[in-house]
Amino acid sequence: MYKPILGLICLALAGTVQAIESRYGQGCAYIKHSREIYCFGGEPFSSASNDMPVFSLDITDKGTMDLKTLEWKTIPKASGDVAPQAASKFMFSPTGDDDSIYIEGGKVCPGCPPNYGYTYSTSKKLWKQMNNYKPIVTTPAVYANGAIWSFGGVTDSQIGLPQKITTLYNIAVKINTTTWNQGYYTSETSTYPQATWDSSMVYSPLDNLLIVIGGYEYLEKSVLVKMDDIIAIDIGEKKYSKLTGTTSLSGSLPESRHGHTAIMDPTNKFVVMFGGCDSNMVGMNDIWLYNIESRTWEKKNTYGTPPSKRCRHSVVVVENYMIVLFGEYLGYATDDIAMALDLNTWTWTSQPVFGSQTNKVEKRGVEEATTTVESSGLSTKATTGVIVSVIFVIIANLL
Ligand SMILES: *[C@@H]1O[C@H](CO)[C@@H](O)[C@H](O)[C@H]1NC(C)=O
Repeated sequence: MYKPILGLICLALAGTVQAIESRYGQGCAYIKHSREIYCFGGEPFSSASNDMPVFSLDITDKGTMDLKTLEWKTIPKASGDVAPQAASKFMFSPTGDDDSIYIEGGKVCPGCPPNYGYTYSTSKKLWKQMNNYKPIVTTPAVYANGAIWSFGGVTDSQIGLPQKITTLYNIAVKINTTTWNQGYYTSETSTYPQATWDSSMVYSPLDNLLIVIGGYEYLEKSVLVKMDDIIAIDIGEKKYSKLTGTTSLSGSLPESRHGHTAIMDPTNKFVVMFGGCDSNMVGMNDIWLYNIESRTWEKKNTYGTPPSKRCRHSVVVVENYMIVLFGEYLGYATDDIAMALDLNTWTWTSQPVFGSQTNKVEKRGVEEATTTVESSGLSTKATTGVIVSVIFVIIANLL
């Protein structure tokens, strides 16, 4: 009884503000049943509080929403709750129940202790610590088939542990969202790809693949991953591979980048990539489509005014819109906070029209019930020997 009551009191205290500070490196998710966008953390860090910031935005029930005058609610930590520390660039994913999100690791506020894995229930407004695993930074994560999957990332001094060396990871981690067991996703039938970090990842349901695009890799020094070097992880067959033979229909490949975003388009055939930065932190605001079946990139011409160039932004999909939120350019937070891309007409707009679909009446748990059952043989039987042999360890000052 204790915790839900706390949550309700907390709800009542949630303050409404006209504008939220610009930021980057946060995590954002759309909670369908309550029609709210939730965002967490990001930089610059506040000097007032070391608690992980939580704020939410109601999506207009029916009609036009003006993204230039958004009213975010800031949600204070319930007294006695064990919130993580303010952080950016953490592992972030919805947990598949259309209520909770999961965060782990990230760059923590100056002098703050590390963040282990936490869930946050958006209905209860409460955090829960789920594990004690070694935190990691700039690791993309997605929810698919009863688990949160992440690939790559870096362990370094930013995560709040005393670290002398930087560890790079070239293996996926599977977090079972029922048991919250977490383990390396080892493969006996394939070799592991190179370690990457600050990349983007999507889950392609038609192929049962995790697809990892871009970011950095280490080739005697940190370099951006080429856009025809795409990692694919089959989460039915436990197999790592590359989408070899990737080409571009637009003359050249997309510019290499990190801190970009990727989602699946409504047909689940294309990856929609937006933005990112080059190695000088110069941002981009282009849209590229990656056709998974033909392994081709195509630059997508859009209509309207796109958001300014950026990386370390967030995207959420609400109905037929991809909403771009926050972001960074040359080390500073971008001024324009939100812009929507209509995925049917490829038009950017600051006035999306919501409510044409009947999302509101959909019951929670419907998605879960229709999730396909995973093939057997998925066990997290990683042995120490295997783990050591697949992780790259590099002295920090070489980076
Ligand atoms: C999670 O763990 C439970 C209990 O061991 C198991 O039944 C379920 O299949 C697991 N889910 C996944 C996605 O591995």
